[in-house]
Amino acid sequence: MKVLSFGHALPAQEIPNNKLSEFMETSDEWIRSHTGIESRYIISGDETVSSLGVRAAKMALDRAGLTVDDIDYILCATTCGEMIFPATACLIQRKLGAKCPAADVNAGCTGFIYSMDMADAMLRRGNVKHVLLVAAEQVTRLSDWADRSTSVLFGDAAGAAVCTAGDGLKSIRLTATGRPDVLYAKMDGGNCPFSEPKMKAVPLQMSGQEIFKYAVTQSCKDIRWVLEHGGMKAGDIDYYVLHQANRRILETARSRLKQPAGKFPMNITTHGNTGAAGIPALLSEMTEDGRLQTGQTLVLSAFGAGLTSGAALLQYNV
Ligand code: ACO
Repeated sequence: MKVLSFGHALPAQEIPNNKLSEFMETSDEWIRSHTGIESRYIISGDETVSSLGVRAAKMALDRAGLTVDDIDYILCATTCGEMIFPATACLIQRKLGAKCPAADVNAGCTGFIYSMDMADAMLRRGNVKHVLLVAAEQVTRLSDWADRSTSVLFGDAAGAAVCTAGDGLKSIRLTATGRPDVLYAKMDGGNCPFSEPKMKAVPLQMSGQEIFKYAVTQSCKDIRWVLEHGGMKAGDIDYYVLHQANRRILETARSRLKQPAGKFPMNITTHGNTGAAGIPALLSEMTEDGRLQTGQTLVLSAFGAGLTSGAALLQYNV
């Protein structure tokens, strides 16, 4: 597969750190120094996960010079679908006016890379020509706003990519290690009279330091793997686009890989952690400001709830 274009969308409402310190015991200084985050966007009013996804998808389609009729499959990576069902991909399909199959992918913040792997398999099978990947998140809806150690980290966003057959994806690696104890959110157990409710709804819980260590170690391992299997050296890569979870995670990974700061673009400062949407949204923003050019070589790397991880070595639009 190859990626023809990226798109992104952000909610209208921007919430800087000092708005959070108005109602919880935190400070701009703590959030910046521990995470690199200065501000985030949060869905409000008529906006929804799918409406952000649609805006991102339309931008990616426009940039690829395609219309919705050219799309043969829609995958939506999300950890917080708008509804339990139908899939957010189906809501996006309806709003776009598409007629193709559509389904969601939940692989935590690694969802976009998992969906790239699925798109590659479909395109290799040969019965689809264009796959629309959307990553749309409203992690702020799952956060516990009484918990300052997690709620300050997240923001809402959508990213999208249009893929077709090609030679852009040089290597890809996915992992999963079932760990429902270190990063999770639970839904309610229901009220069926014939079964004991096994769960009460629990908002997002995270063992921050454990995830931090996992993220750095796993991301470096995955990146080295895709470089080796793609026949490239760390210095050959134009950009390392990592899941935007914490500036310190990105900087620790960068120093282990011994690469210059300019190769590790970020949108965490202004967007916070936007889950699976962070990577495609950042690549779309880099298209907009000219940093991302056809033919450049990228390493994408993400990690998240599952625990999952994934990395891809991708030459853009070739
Ligand atoms: N404001 C002020 N103080 C705070 C805040 C806050 N928002 N949050 C925590 N603190 C306090 C704590 O209470 C603690 O105080 P104490 O020492 O008096 O007990 C102190 O700050 C240090 O807390 P730690 O949790 O040790 O802080 P740490 O330096 O580990 O940073 C953080 C926490 C930012 C969460 C970090 O561990 C991290 O980024 N982890 C990785 C998160 C991540 O990658 N998530 C991605 C997955 S999310 C997904 O997939 C949906």
